[in-house]
Amino acid sequence: MIKEELEQRNLPKLLVSENGTKIENITQWEGRRKEIKEILDNFLIGIVPPLKPKTRGKIERTDENAVAGKAIYHFVDIEINTTGGFFQFPVHMMLPKKKKKPPIFLYLSFEPNLFNEFCPVEEIIDHGYGIVSMFYQDIAPDTDNRFLSGVARLYTRNTFDSWGTIGMWAWAGSRVMDYLEKLDFIDTHRIAIVGHSRLGKTALWCGATDHRFSMVISNDSGGAGTALFRGKKGEMIVNLKHGSSKYWYCGNFLDYAKNERELPFDQHFVMALVAPRNLYVSSAKEDVWADPQSEFLGAMAANEAYELFGLEGLVTPDEFPKAPAVFHVGQIGYHLRPGTHYLSRYDWERFIEYRDLHKC
Ligand code: GCU
Repeated sequence: MIKEELEQRNLPKLLVSENGTKIENITQWEGRRKEIKEILDNFLIGIVPPLKPKTRGKIERTDENAVAGKAIYHFVDIEINTTGGFFQFPVHMMLPKKKKKPPIFLYLSFEPNLFNEFCPVEEIIDHGYGIVSMFYQDIAPDTDNRFLSGVARLYTRNTFDSWGTIGMWAWAGSRVMDYLEKLDFIDTHRIAIVGHSRLGKTALWCGATDHRFSMVISNDSGGAGTALFRGKKGEMIVNLKHGSSKYWYCGNFLDYAKNERELPFDQHFVMALVAPRNLYVSSAKEDVWADPQSEFLGAMAANEAYELFGLEGLVTPDEFPKAPAVFHVGQIGYHLRPGTHYLSRYDWERFIEYRDLHKC
């Protein structure tokens, strides 16, 4: 049944290269992977300018007894030198004392504060995970400001194929990784990137293209996130053409409004770039704007990339999930929870369970 649903979506073929070659092994996949990345750079995210970043992190402040004495807190400045000039932003780091080198959630946050409605810090710490959180608007404002501030000001942007703000926020996630990967007091092989909604779209892109992340978690990310555009309900490209969302992607992408069928990709291309690492897609039943069914099918359509590695992607019964549904067996984890668009405690608990299970 799911196979038929996917066939009806008439998706561009993941495993056929531009010159018509069928991709059958991981050597061929490496080439196809580059092609896919290039398509997405040109028609979705926009091209990252040649900033040649050099990154340094500086711990500015520490609290040895945070979260009832169970955690160590660091306030860290991420300093970046680029060809376009200097840039810097802060991150919060909270590490559990009970775990020597804790695995990390790099959390793209809607809030400048670590403690906020979307982030159950104490619970994460109690499970032996550290959390590093960065506020997305410290990188580039999510407003109609014509790219005059934040990292955007370092480089002149064109309205065809230059990066949009999602590309900028994702770029900054990789800069935090530049810092994290050198630390000897965290588990640098287990750093997952996580985000919700527009930041779920951002986490997906950042983790898909930066292989230093062991896991990528995209919560309720909908259109241009995990949901397939072909056959999608709710938000479409035309809806992204207004307000701050018109700056999220490159100009070429917006030209496909009302013409999604002609897009040279669909969102399973993005998710396939995560393979063979762990990917986690989460949906909420009442999040009709995002369209949970299209998110689920998007993850299913990425399975082919995992199969090339001899791995199982999303393993589910052959039907659309009914909330609550949790599928944790494969390299792609998925859950559908009851309720609306939100990053809830329930979601975090499933992410932790999945990471415990897969050691990712
Ligand atoms: C709007 C937008 C979505 C986005 C969401 C969010 O609903 O249409 O694409 O995911 O905002 O980021 O909260």
